[in-house]
Amino acid sequence: MDAMTTVNADPAFLHDVLAGLAQPQKAVPARWFYDARGSELFEDITDLAEYYPTRAETSILAARGAEFAALTGPGRAVVEFGSGSSAKTPHLLGAIAPAAYVPIDISGDFLRASSAALAERHPGLPVIPVEADFTRPVALPDEVRGLPMLGFFPGSTIGNLIPASAVDLLRSMRKTLGTGAQLLIGLDRVKDTGVLLRAYDDAAGVTAQFNLNLLHRINRELDGDVPVDAFRHKVVWNDMLSRIEMHLEAQRDVMFAIAGQRFAMRAGETIHTENSHKYGPRSGTLMLLAGGWTPLAEWMDADGLFSVVLARAEEPRMAP
Ligand code: AVI
Repeated sequence: MDAMTTVNADPAFLHDVLAGLAQPQKAVPARWFYDARGSELFEDITDLAEYYPTRAETSILAARGAEFAALTGPGRAVVEFGSGSSAKTPHLLGAIAPAAYVPIDISGDFLRASSAALAERHPGLPVIPVEADFTRPVALPDEVRGLPMLGFFPGSTIGNLIPASAVDLLRSMRKTLGTGAQLLIGLDRVKDTGVLLRAYDDAAGVTAQFNLNLLHRINRELDGDVPVDAFRHKVVWNDMLSRIEMHLEAQRDVMFAIAGQRFAMRAGETIHTENSHKYGPRSGTLMLLAGGWTPLAEWMDADGLFSVVLARAEEPRMAP
C-alpha cells in the first residue's frame, strides 16, 4: 500500500467505502459521485434528452414566478441548499424581489464561482455564500438575521435520501431557517417505468460513466485496484420503495484491494450506489409534514413529470 495515498485520502470517503463494501449488500453513499469529473458528468446528464427532471423543473420555475411572488412576498432571504452551479436560481430570484441570496454548498471553489456569476446577473442583490455541509443545521450570516426566509432545494435532490434521512434533513433545514420560514422544493414524481429507466440509463452512456467514475475515484484516491472494466452500470425500478436504484454489477468474479483491504465479488453481485426516490401525489406531502413543513401550494410541468412544492414551517401547536 502506498502510505501517501491513504494519508491524503478524505477519511470520511475511506470510511464509507470500506464500511459500505463490508456489508452483505455492498453500498457506497451517492454523495461520493461528485468529484470534479463526477460533477462535470452530472452537468452533462442534466442536458440529456432522456433526463427530464431538469427541463421539467426549469419549465415550472420559469412559468410560475408570479404565483411564487404572490405567496412569498418581497424581501425574503433566499437560502439555497447545495447550490452547485445555481443554474435554476435566476428564475426564482428574478420573480420574487428577494432581499438577499445565501447559497450553501460544501464545495467552496464551485460556490465562489457560481456566486460571482449570480451577483453579476443580479446587481444590487447581496449574495452571501456559505461554505458548509447543509445536512446539518447551518449558522446563517448576520446580514440576513431577522429577514423572512425562503429555503430553495430544487432538483429532487431530497430523493437521493432514504425517507428517514430525508425527514432528518427537512428538520435540519427548519432549524436553519426558523419558524415562519418557507421552503420551495422540487420533487420528482412516479411515472411510466420505461421513462424512469431511460432517464437513468441513457443511450449515450453518460449516466453509466457517472456511475463508473466512482470506481475510478476509489482507485485514485483510496489506493484501489478495482478492475473497472469488469463492472457495468445497472438500473432498476424498486416499485415497493418507489425508487430508481443505480448499482455497479460485477460481470465476472473479481478480487481487489482498497487501502490494503481485500474484497471479493461474485459475477452478478452489485455495489448499490444511488437511490432516487419518486413521489406520488400524497407521499411527498407526507414526507414534508413529517419533516416539519406544511405544504401551501404545488405546481407541475405540462406533462405531469415533476412537482415544485411551496411549504411553510408553522408555529408548533397542540394537535388533537
Ligand atoms: C442529484 N440527483 C437529484 C440526481 C437524481 O436524479 O437522482 C442524480 C442522478 N443520478 C443519476 N442521474 C442523475
